[in-house]
Amino acid sequence: MSRKVFPIQPVSAPRVAAPAYDGAALADTLGRRLRDLRISVTDRCNFRCVYCMPREVYDSSWRFLPHAEILSFEEILRLAKLFAGLGVQKIRLTGGEPLMRKDLPRLVELLATHLPEVDLTLTTNGALLGRHARALAQAGLKRITVSLDSLDDATFRQLVDADYPLSSVLEGIEAAAAAGLAPIKINMVVKRSVNAHEVAAMARHWRARGLAAGRPELYIPRFIEYMDVGSTNGWRMDEVLPSREVVARIGAEFDIEPAEANYPGEVAARWRYRDGSGEFGVISSVTQAFCRDCNRLRLSTEGSLYTCLFAGQGHDLKTLLRSGAADSTLVNEIAGVWRAREDRYSELRGAAGADHEAPLRKVEMSYIGG
Ligand code: GTP
Ligand code: 5AD
Ligand code: SF4
Ligand code: SF4
Repeated sequence: MSRKVFPIQPVSAPRVAAPAYDGAALADTLGRRLRDLRISVTDRCNFRCVYCMPREVYDSSWRFLPHAEILSFEEILRLAKLFAGLGVQKIRLTGGEPLMRKDLPRLVELLATHLPEVDLTLTTNGALLGRHARALAQAGLKRITVSLDSLDDATFRQLVDADYPLSSVLEGIEAAAAAGLAPIKINMVVKRSVNAHEVAAMARHWRARGLAAGRPELYIPRFIEYMDVGSTNGWRMDEVLPSREVVARIGAEFDIEPAEANYPGEVAARWRYRDGSGEFGVISSVTQAFCRDCNRLRLSTEGSLYTCLFAGQGHDLKTLLRSGAADSTLVNEIAGVWRAREDRYSELRGAAGADHEAPLRKVEMSYIGG
């Protein structure tokens, strides 16, 4: 299948002259400050998770981005420095699967060396982590997030629809711990009919692993409501397990209490075990939208900016970048995009309930990295 059949690749928005950035704190139309940048380094993935890259769409005829269209590490570094100057405090490398990008530790090293004050992290599916954890840590990565939806090998294989055993991801997580990456956040997307029955087991497993390591803060599972991202995953509301049910299930087994957010606009709501044996998080994009505090900007693999995970269109930066534009021109462009931002997709979808009409085209999760 080609993109002609599934016209979901974003096109760039028409360019409007951006007002010059005057150095004032950057806020969007709803007063939200830019804080987090997610950089997708590849649109490829070695998994075909059913809720993200269904195999019948992402089959052998799917055309991934050619190398010439992908931002180079030097281009990413240049933009990252400009974003840091605009207030970005955290950079998360994503994909597709970021470890599929050749020489990724070199990019980590560039970013860690040039932007030591930025909280640099990465979200991976973990299958290649065993091979790369040490190089990533040596390159300057401090912490990591691993997606893991099931602790049962059959369910895991059914969800990721690829020829990797569960053990490859568990070994990747152990390699990350051995390399000193901490904390290790474990993202579990919960689909009611597939893995909802494993919620308490997932919490129990990582609590026990942290205790066994003598470091209850090391593993932080986060339970994510299955979201209607993209246009290919056949999302249905009745497949969403609301976070309040996640909390109730874990609370039935352990004595838990809510914990303060680590930083303004944190996506996960934190919960901790009252006996000090660690914490977990819930990400409730469907039942409790968090658009009001949304401080995230996304840079796609081919250099377009997305102001929302559910955006239909991006803003092309690469053309400007490759046309020899000065830093000040790029900064003005980025500032203009952020200032004009009015996205609050999840909030509007929540308010509209069943009447909500989704946009015809939304960017795909694997393209924008969550
Ligand atoms: P830290 O708090 O820094 O550890 O990271 P994070 O929770 O922001 O990042 P992560 O990549 O682990 O995101 C967790 C989940 O939340 C993923 O499924 C993301 O797709 C989702 N998510 C992250 N940001 C947003 C957002 O702005 N809107 C929505 N709707 N979902 C988001
Ligand atoms: N709903 C919720 N989370 C999703 N992710 C991918 N697709 C979805 C979806 N439809 C998660 C991945 C990863 C993170 C970046 O986004 O599991 O942890
Ligand atoms: Fe699964 Fe992440 Fe790959 Fe999507 S990008 S198919 S969620 S591993
Ligand atoms: Fe931010 Fe869009 Fe997610 Fe709302 S739906 S939190 S605006 S990315």
